[in-house]
Formats: sequence, structure tokens, C-alpha cells
Amino acid sequence: MAAPLVLALGGSLLSADEGERNAWLSALTELLSACEVPIGIVVGGGRSAREAIELAKSRGENDVAALDEIGIAATRVNATMVSEILRGAGLDVFIGIPTDVESAAQNLESHRIVAMGGTRPGHTTDNVAICLAIEAKATRCVIATNVGHVYSSDPRLDSAALPIESMTLSELQEIVGPPVHGKAGGSAVIDPIGVQAAIDNNLPLAVLDGSQMNRMRDALAGKPFVGTRIEVG
Ligand code: UTP
Repeated sequence: MAAPLVLALGGSLLSADEGERNAWLSALTELLSACEVPIGIVVGGGRSAREAIELAKSRGENDVAALDEIGIAATRVNATMVSEILRGAGLDVFIGIPTDVESAAQNLESHRIVAMGGTRPGHTTDNVAICLAIEAKATRCVIATNVGHVYSSDPRLDSAALPIESMTLSELQEIVGPPVHGKAGGSAVIDPIGVQAAIDNNLPLAVLDGSQMNRMRDALAGKPFVGTRIEVG
């Protein structure tokens, strides 16, 4: 089979209101049905992860690994939902949710689609997607999230933040900072641990607004897309 691609779906994409979410899942199914290469899909935890982590924190849980486990469980619920929807639509999807990237990569050799969530505490699903792309020898990792681009600084805090069309992995690392897992629940545009793994393994990335299906289609097809292209370097 041709070299696979890996698609990270930020959990926020599954946290839209019901009508929007249904339309998005139908468009995703259509997009993936037309893909000619195997695709590893890594799904984030979104609102349910955040809410469950916050609830545990408010009850006094402050062990980061324990909070991470809550987040991981939420990512796996979302991954199961995506996996079953795609399988129900007739796509060749591996049955089950791999809990490590090695077995996910192995199952991608015999299925068109393998969906998974988190693996272990200490990072987010961005890093899982990047590690799966490395393990499966994918040509690139497309990170679909709820912002259109990587910005020069955090647009929530800095009104002068500018969207970036194209950058290198080292430039991205300057923005996201060193590869550490500070807290459960995440916050950086891309997990800095994943950025380090991409640098170490020369893996190009794409970051885009996953609510815009045409952008995801273009990026998966290797065409110019609206979003941030992150090249090796
Ligand atoms: P997400 O991947 O959804 O991370 O995992 P995030 O950055 O908080 O969410 P987005 O990308 O902004 O939507 C949710 C949480 O689950 C734990 C982490 O605490 C993470 O923040 N997690 C997830 C792990 O500890 N390990 C994993 O492999 C995945």
C-alpha cells in the first residue's frame, strides 16, 4: 500500500453543537471515503476531557498523571465514536482502539483507516499523532484544530498576533517552547513534545482549521491549503 498519512482531529471539532457536528461528521466520512492512501486518525478529548479534568481538580486531584488518565479516557471515547461512524459508513476501519502507536501503525498495514486516542500520560494527542506518523512512515502529519493557523504569538493574549502561512519546525519550536508537559488539559497550539519528535525525525506538519473540510482535503492531498505548512528545518 502507498505511504500512509496521519490526521490529528482536535477534540474541539467534536464539541460543536449537534447539527454542526453531524454535518461535519458526514463531510469527514465523504472526505475519507475518497482518500486513496491509508489514514491514521488520532482524536483529541475536547470539551469532555477538559470538563472531567477540571472536575477532578476541583475535588482536590492534583497529580498530573492521574488527570492525564482522565483526558486519555475522553480521547478514546471520541476515537471510538469516529471509528464506529466511519465503519458504519462502509469504510475499511480497524475494529478497536489501539493504545500504542506501534500497534496502530501495524494495523494500518492491513486497513485503510485506524483511529485512536491517547496512549499514556505526559503529552497530548498531537504528540500521539506525530509519533504515529513517524512509526508508520507517513509522509506528513496533518493537525486539524479550531484555529486557522499557527500565529506569531497567542492570538487570545496578543491582538497583534499574525497568522503564519509557512514556517520551519525550528521556528515552530521557538513559538511553542521546550518539550515539557506542564499540565493536564494542554494549551499550546501544538504540543511542544510532538514538535521535538517531528524535529528529531524530519516530519513535515500541517496545521489548519478542521471545521473547513476543503482545507483538510487539500492538505491530505499534498496540495496548497489554507493553514500553516511546517517544513523540516
Ligand atoms: P488532547 O489531545 O485533547 O489535548 O488530550 P489538549 O491539548 O488538552 O486538547 P486540544 O488539542 O486543545 O483539543 C486531552 C488531555 O488528555 C491527556 C492530556 O492531559 C491532554 O491535555 N492525554 C492525552 C495524555 O496524557 N496522553 C495522551 O496520549 C493523550
